[in-house]
Amino acid sequence: MAMISIREERSDDVAALRDLHTAAFGRSVEAEIVDRLRQGCPDLVSLVAADGDRIVGHVLFSPVTVDAGPVGMGLAPLAVLPEYQRRGIGSALVEHGLAALRSRDCPFVLLYGHPGYYPRFGFERASAHGLASHLGEVPDEAFMVLVLDADAMAGVAGVTRLRAEFDESME
Ligand SMILES: CC(C)(COP(=O)(O)OP(=O)(O)OC[C@H]1O[C@@H](n2cnc3c(N)ncnc32)[C@H](O)[C@@H]1OP(=O)(O)O)[C@@H](O)C(=O)NCCC(=O)NCCS
Repeated sequence: MAMISIREERSDDVAALRDLHTAAFGRSVEAEIVDRLRQGCPDLVSLVAADGDRIVGHVLFSPVTVDAGPVGMGLAPLAVLPEYQRRGIGSALVEHGLAALRSRDCPFVLLYGHPGYYPRFGFERASAHGLASHLGEVPDEAFMVLVLDADAMAGVAGVTRLRAEFDESME
């Protein structure tokens, strides 16, 4: 872990990030979502983990709406190269990302993910916070939120919506 550094994405990371997501997920859907968001979404937080010159991990955050409520950020995708997994790199990316979002006064972070992984960062069931997915029926335990600003989220409930780039890439 000593040689791994976390930094913001740079313009020359694009090709390596495509390869990273394709290797981590075993398909190109997530790589395409990242490319679409980079082109169409101005307000991204994109952090990479680098082992020297090699990109070995990535986390992306993009805006999420909840009806008339404040705009939060969605965590997706998160990926670490298979041979670098289980060394804390994914956790470091999530922690750095959450710190960056806190400093931007982001009110909440939403994600669809494995319920065995994300609660360690404080994520809870979104349904317990009155949030529902625009996707309709999703496994309740996989649809998670981390409230960063409880005052801003007081009384906020409704349907959350990720950027359209996610739906377009899944079609
Ligand atoms: C999920 C992922 C980013 C985690 O990265 P990582 O660097 O291995 O994560 P860390 O080393 O910080 O944490 C490892 C922990 O995550 C857990 N974990 C990793 N992938 C998991 C999964 N799919 N389901 C449940 N737990 C998982 C491990 O069990 C381990 O838990 P432990 O510390 O209790 O043993 C990485 O496994 C990955 O890229 N997977 C393929 C892509 C993917 O599924 N992304 C997430 C979509 S929600």
